[in-house]
Amino acid sequence: MEKISVRGGRKLHGSITVGGMKNAALPILLGTILVGDRCVIENLPEISDIRSALDILSSLGATVRMIDRTTVEIDTSNIRPGTTPYDLARSMRASYYVVGAELGRYGTSRAACPGGCDFGVRPIDQHIKGFEALGAKVDVVDGCITCSAPPEGLTGASIYMDIVSVGATINIMLAAVLADGMTVIDNAAREPHVVDVANFLNTCGADVSGAGTDVIKIRGVKKLHGVTYAIIPDMIEAGTYMMAAAATGSELTIANVIPKHLESISAKLEEMGAKVEDLGDAVHIYPSEGPLRRINVKTMPYPGYPTDMNPQICVLLCLARGTSILTEGVWENRFKYVEELVRMGASITVDGRTAVIQGGRPFRPATVKCSDLRAGAAMVIAALATDGVTVIENIYHIERGYEHLVEKLQGVGADIKTIDTPEDSGQSAV
Ligand code: EPZ
Repeated sequence: MEKISVRGGRKLHGSITVGGMKNAALPILLGTILVGDRCVIENLPEISDIRSALDILSSLGATVRMIDRTTVEIDTSNIRPGTTPYDLARSMRASYYVVGAELGRYGTSRAACPGGCDFGVRPIDQHIKGFEALGAKVDVVDGCITCSAPPEGLTGASIYMDIVSVGATINIMLAAVLADGMTVIDNAAREPHVVDVANFLNTCGADVSGAGTDVIKIRGVKKLHGVTYAIIPDMIEAGTYMMAAAATGSELTIANVIPKHLESISAKLEEMGAKVEDLGDAVHIYPSEGPLRRINVKTMPYPGYPTDMNPQICVLLCLARGTSILTEGVWENRFKYVEELVRMGASITVDGRTAVIQGGRPFRPATVKCSDLRAGAAMVIAALATDGVTVIENIYHIERGYEHLVEKLQGVGADIKTIDTPEDSGQSAV
């Protein structure tokens, strides 16, 4: 099995270009099911979750053709709803978007309940509540979700979300764009990827307003049409490299970003002593003049500090002098990675959703595992800030969501490589 080996302790320099946002690209790709026409989707990240989404589309009968590395042409004229293979649906959380899209276009859907990173219980009750409010009958039996619209089709409704959910907000939007009448989603998620999906749907002829606020209105239309659409840059990929710069005391440019999306991340980095300069379509990180300062962080739905940046900032808090508190405000259990950082010498105690970090001790090299996608990125950041060679296992998690992470870091001077055998791990990392 492949691993990543990092000889840390080097400064990074130069520029990293960020790819398209995974969590926007997945619902947009699966949202093409609603269109029933030819779409060209640009600025896709080259990651395994995108390949899984394209495999799902092909298995449903769509014609999928890569035009170049980051652009795909998809024709969803002929879809066989309800035929997503079990293993593909289980391979990632975002497979639930097939259900909203199929229900919206065909009034019927059947798929295995989604898989994805393990953060404790990951319910889909808010998705189901939304589909039922639109008039669908929904059953979850033996790990499969089955939905059917009444003979007259779905009808717009007012839906109050009991919890701010990115997935449920997007899924209800997908189901509602072709429904009869007006749907209102109250307490909607405001993430940039929710806005990107709404923009894609509107470009296809949908009538969605309010995305980016907590009330989204969807006036049903009869039909959508094919478009060419480019995915927004990935704020979490950008934030991860910003943290890598701060952890290694490096000066780095992160290109192809929307700085507005990075405000909460930049604010936390600046609180810790680093400086972030807004260059319009890039950000430039300057290292802290003294040691990194301790801070407290709580993850929240957008525009709060993102849960998908929890493990990465934990690494910085380990390096900062003093005691920091990191509170997880979105997921039940996002601290599985902590034991790996402890293996590298960190002092962290977790109580429920709160981690108390006694910072200021240098990491020591170790062999560590990725427990999930963002945890894997945190292991890489910790390894870059560690003198000696760190080996990171279970890197398939990283490959699900970070395109060419090893090559991008090599490009800014990191001593990092992918290895196949344990014997390689003691040699120079590059
Ligand atoms: C999306 O997951 C992202 N995944 C996650 O990113 C991200 O962590 C999460 O949003 C929060 O920002 C994708 O977009 C594919 P939620 P999602 O529904 O939509 C609870 C990454 O690393 N909830 O916003 O599944 C849920 O348990 C991944 O890229 C319900 O209670 O997350 C959680 O506590 C990991 N009932 C909270 O809401 C529901 O029906 C937020 O979940 C749905 C969710």
